[in-house]
Amino acid sequence: MQVKPPVITVDGPSGTGKGTLCSQVSRWLQWNLLDSGALYRILALLAQRENIDVSNAVEVAGLARTELDVQFIAVAGEPSIKVTLDGADIDAQIRKEDCGNAASQLGGYVEVREAILGWQRSFQRPPGLVADGRDMGTVVFPAAELKIFLTASPEERAKRRYKQLNVKGIDVSFQNLLTEMAERDNRDKQRNISPLRPAEDAIVIDTSASGIENVFAQVSALIKQRFELPV
Ligand code: DC
Repeated sequence: MQVKPPVITVDGPSGTGKGTLCSQVSRWLQWNLLDSGALYRILALLAQRENIDVSNAVEVAGLARTELDVQFIAVAGEPSIKVTLDGADIDAQIRKEDCGNAASQLGGYVEVREAILGWQRSFQRPPGLVADGRDMGTVVFPAAELKIFLTASPEERAKRRYKQLNVKGIDVSFQNLLTEMAERDNRDKQRNISPLRPAEDAIVIDTSASGIENVFAQVSALIKQRFELPV
């Protein structure tokens, strides 16, 4: 039997530092990275480009194909990764709040989640995968070797997201962001299919009061232990 490459899953709501942590861990281990939220965001963008209403789950699901060339590229000196689609840099477009809200809506459709499942699993390639999302540990990679679930207070998460968007030159109001994030979290947690929740065997880390260096230190210690890496 072929042994599958190992997987580390990092789930949690936005603004908990998942993206930065996953990018640091994948660089450190030299493993592949999957930002699953970006796939939902890309579907929202493609639907917009092709004039498909995001509530048309069947048509949007038809846009999810493994042959879409999505790359997660680490940029030297930057904490986050850049996403390209068929070689074009679409990162700024998919990070906009309208894309995030449409992605959250798409996440509630069973047709879309099913269509995206094989696409997400296709990122499990040697030497290993770091998977960032909402249901990586519960649904997409239930046999993952290490599962992390990050949490943080809503205010702290909105502050981080605000800073992140500002750095990317995306202008938003803090109050709107806080309200929209709360709505999105509720939708992600309440949906019937693959709701946002920690897997039973996930290690939950509250990042409200910790800097990313601290979170990385905790997680890298867990990884060394789990994968028996030299210290
Ligand atoms: O992580 P993010 O903010 O880029 O994700 C955008 C939306 O995509 C999120 O609000 C819900 C949806 N999503 C999901 O349903 N399941 C995932 N594994 C990742 C994202």
